[in-house]
Amino acid sequence: MERDELRRRLEFYRDLGLTTLYRKQKPVAVLEEAAAPAPIVLPAIEPEGDTLIQIREDIGDCKRCRLHEGRHKIVFGSGNEHAKLVFVGEGPGADEDEQGLPFVGRAGQLLTQMIEGTAKKEGIPLLRPDVYICNVVKCRPPENRTPLPDEMEICGQFLYRQLQGIKPKAICALGSTAAKALLSTKDGVTKLRGRWHRWRDIPLMVTYHPSYLLRPYNQNAKREAWEDLKTVLHFVYD
Ligand code: URA
Repeated sequence: MERDELRRRLEFYRDLGLTTLYRKQKPVAVLEEAAAPAPIVLPAIEPEGDTLIQIREDIGDCKRCRLHEGRHKIVFGSGNEHAKLVFVGEGPGADEDEQGLPFVGRAGQLLTQMIEGTAKKEGIPLLRPDVYICNVVKCRPPENRTPLPDEMEICGQFLYRQLQGIKPKAICALGSTAAKALLSTKDGVTKLRGRWHRWRDIPLMVTYHPSYLLRPYNQNAKREAWEDLKTVLHFVYD
């Protein structure tokens, strides 16, 4: 294949949201050495000087995955473009889908209370609009189901651009979907929470998703989530 055509084809796959392609192995007889399929890692898709406005424009009226079929509004994210702290949730629910804003339903109200209440108690002058809040997928999954791996991969490119563009001092992943998307791990929140990880070079804390904390029998998790948040706020704002 000509180089130009190969480049065009790779760009096409990249636009589809695929970041790694695997070459078919040649028949064993013609392999010089039996090697695993060579991954072709596509070039970084976070342009220099990327801005949230540009990223939103690139998402456009997105139809890259099946989630567009049932959505009313794309929920891009909200808050301070220069935030030192970014919260990443899973995906919009019904209220968010209707308003086009992240975390505005019951879980969102709890998240706001957690951020502002903990900050106040710890003597940190911080309100929700000072941070940035977004999700792994920007369209509501039907019946609020967990986003599927291909949906996460396709939409993940925009999440990565948001994080790379904002360059916060820390990221807080809310729940296991956000943790999976940012840490490529299969471990659950209970195992990951309460200590620092990294997304690229940025310190990342995993904690429970506010929807989980709304369930009445999760009082212990609630206490732990408050501890996690306290750690994050002091790290970022002290
Ligand atoms: N749950 C999420 O993960 N994100 C939202 O925006 C709302 C609820």
